Amino acid sequence: KPFVMIMAGGSGTRLWPMSRVSRPKQLINITGKRSLIEEAVERAKLLTTPDRIYIGTNKDLALKIQKVVKLDKKQYLLEPAARNTAPIIAYFASYLKAHGADDASGLVILAADHHIEPVDKWAETVKLALSRAAERIWCMGIQPTRAETGYGYIEAGIEVAPRMSAISSFREKPDYQTASHYLTTERHFWNSGMFIFSLGRIREDFRIYQSEMLKQADQCAQSTANLAKIFPKMQNISIDYAIMEKTKKVGLIRADFTWDDVGSFDALARIHAADATGNHVIQGKVISHRAKGNIIKTNFTVALLGLENCVLIEDEGVLLIAKREALPDIRDLREKAPDQL
Ligand code: GDD
Ligand code: MG
Repeated sequence: KPFVMIMAGGSGTRLWPMSRVSRPKQLINITGKRSLIEEAVERAKLLTTPDRIYIGTNKDLALKIQKVVKLDKKQYLLEPAARNTAPIIAYFASYLKAHGADDASGLVILAADHHIEPVDKWAETVKLALSRAAERIWCMGIQPTRAETGYGYIEAGIEVAPRMSAISSFREKPDYQTASHYLTTERHFWNSGMFIFSLGRIREDFRIYQSEMLKQADQCAQSTANLAKIFPKMQNISIDYAIMEKTKKVGLIRADFTWDDVGSFDALARIHAADATGNHVIQGKVISHRAKGNIIKTNFTVALLGLENCVLIEDEGVLLIAKREALPDIRDLREKAPDQL
């Protein structure tokens, strides 16, 4: 049975005011069923036993997650400081090694902000990658449908098995022009941000490309005093830049499920398809006349007239009204809001 870690340390600022400092996006219910972190844990249970599921996050968030996710305290890997995804993955590997896991153990790294359907197909795909986990770092590749600059792109190389190939290149967050080109090649896939490898495989890649980080992670795994002292000194870098762009040992496994990174209001609009009025209603009642392309979440009945491509999000006393085209600047707006909001 594999060891699974769900990375849940991100803050989700692009979904403000739906996500707040006090209630980050992992803890909000976006799909109508339950919070994103609960969904992620339920998916992980399709792969392994609950005692092998870990959550990589910070102390404050862990306290909140513990209220909805019943895992043992020691299954929370607590970062003393946010250092992006490479350090927490290195630490996870070092932690397992220090606790006696052998190099052939399968590891699965998941994100807390994904929407996946159907989950049984997803689980089958992960298991397929696990069957060859010692050979490569497997990424689940998604057929791109737009020139998205917020994702990594994997270029497929030679096929090694049905749906599985070596890769020719990995490029994290390309510029718009490059992303538009990738859309036309039919060889480029989105990196879904989930990784599958054996313990030996990932430690070997860290040894080659991030040896200092591996040393620090091994020290962190020795004691909580080391963790507090050394983890904050680790380089602040994502796994995509630290390892994926560098190693030759990446593999691509093509997804046969739908996937979305639930990181922005545009993503919510993709998940909540337009209704008969042409608007994306996450919550609330909408009466509309000559109004379309709006994304709406409110407890009210909203009457729209002549309004297009806007966002109306009402959440605990804050009402966000914005043009969708302005959404890339939402972080700047969030910074102007007082901390308690
Ligand atoms: N524990 C921890 N600590 N988790 C973190 C940290 C951290 O410092 N930073 C981010 N995370 C978690 C987030 O909560 C999320 O679940 C996951 O790691 C990915 O981080 P994002 O910040 O959402 O990354 P991204 O979406 O910009 O890019 C990654 O995912 C894309 C697909 O969603 C990359 O892997 C891209 O290549 C990929 O296309
Ligand atoms: Mg993300």
